[in-house]
Amino acid sequence: MRWRCVLLGAWLLTWAQWGVAQQRVIPLDQLRSGLSYAGADVRALQADEFGNPAQLWLLRGEQRWIEPVGPEGKSCQQCHGAVAQGLRGVAARYPAMDRRSGELMMLEDRIRNCRTRQQRGPELAFESDDLLALSLYLTQASAGVRLQVDIGGAARVHWQEGERLFMQRRGQLNLACTHCHDQNHGQRFYTDLLSQGQPNGYPIYRMEWQKVGSLERRLRSCLVGVRAELPPWGALQLRQLALYLGWRGQGLPVESPAVRK
Ligand code: HEC
Ligand code: HEC
Repeated sequence: MRWRCVLLGAWLLTWAQWGVAQQRVIPLDQLRSGLSYAGADVRALQADEFGNPAQLWLLRGEQRWIEPVGPEGKSCQQCHGAVAQGLRGVAARYPAMDRRSGELMMLEDRIRNCRTRQQRGPELAFESDDLLALSLYLTQASAGVRLQVDIGGAARVHWQEGERLFMQRRGQLNLACTHCHDQNHGQRFYTDLLSQGQPNGYPIYRMEWQKVGSLERRLRSCLVGVRAELPPWGALQLRQLALYLGWRGQGLPVESPAVRK
């Protein structure tokens, strides 16, 4: 009888480990930030404390953080304190489950939520300048903190779905995320050098956009790139992909404010 228990125990252990470690296509020690694939011009701009065009957006974020909003004139700062103390590290663990609603939330959803529920102020639209400025400001407060999203509990199904979506072919080009970012990073796709598609710089300042944009906007560009149909803003599948990306990039330090071509 005893050997059976031992065998069962060993099997369960292997299964559990497999469950956690399954399908890491790029091993953790080979993760590379998108910055390491960028040209010298982009790298110089990102490193330049004064020339980095995202700096203006950070100032804007700071203003939004401290200004009173809504009928009671509450500021983000009033409840959360100085961002570098109160919310340092938070951006590195998003997307995350919201206990109250049971929803998978991006950092942007959190901010929108606090704006309407806590401040009772006007809604911040997806990809609006104020929302981007705030999310950049919060992300920068986590610069250097390593990505660590939670895929346990209720997040599990979203992670699984995110993985499935990452592997799924789509669009007229019939390509999946994995084809470009797991299998062909370091290769050229038209004029672009393909990176591993890591999320650790987002929101970023993108030169092509001439402004800051969210991870969701970047994912939408990739969908356009393969000529796939675009889901509505805030669609669950994009959050699930973001959760999978966070897990896939686990341990990469948040780089912010980041710049891309
Ligand atoms: C046909 C190739 C292609 C496919 C398929 C593709 N992308 Fe991309 N992706 C790109 C290119 C080109 C860029 C810009 C250069 C780079 O960072 O690779 C990019 C950038 C990214 C970035 C930003 C990386 C950074 O450091 O700024 C992320 C994240 C990303 N892709 C995720 C995805 C996800 C998730 C999917 C699947 C829904 C996907 N991509 C599908 C080509 C692709
Ligand atoms: C009246 C107080 C109050 C105000 C004002 C407020 N928040 Fe919050 N915030 C909270 C509380 C309470 C929570 C945690 C519980 C919840 O809302 O789900 C929270 C949670 C958060 C989180 C998630 C933190 C985590 O650990 O995951 C972020 C990010 C955040 N707020 C950002 C903001 C921003 C940005 C603003 C201003 C636009 C703001 N908050 C305004 C009270 C506030």
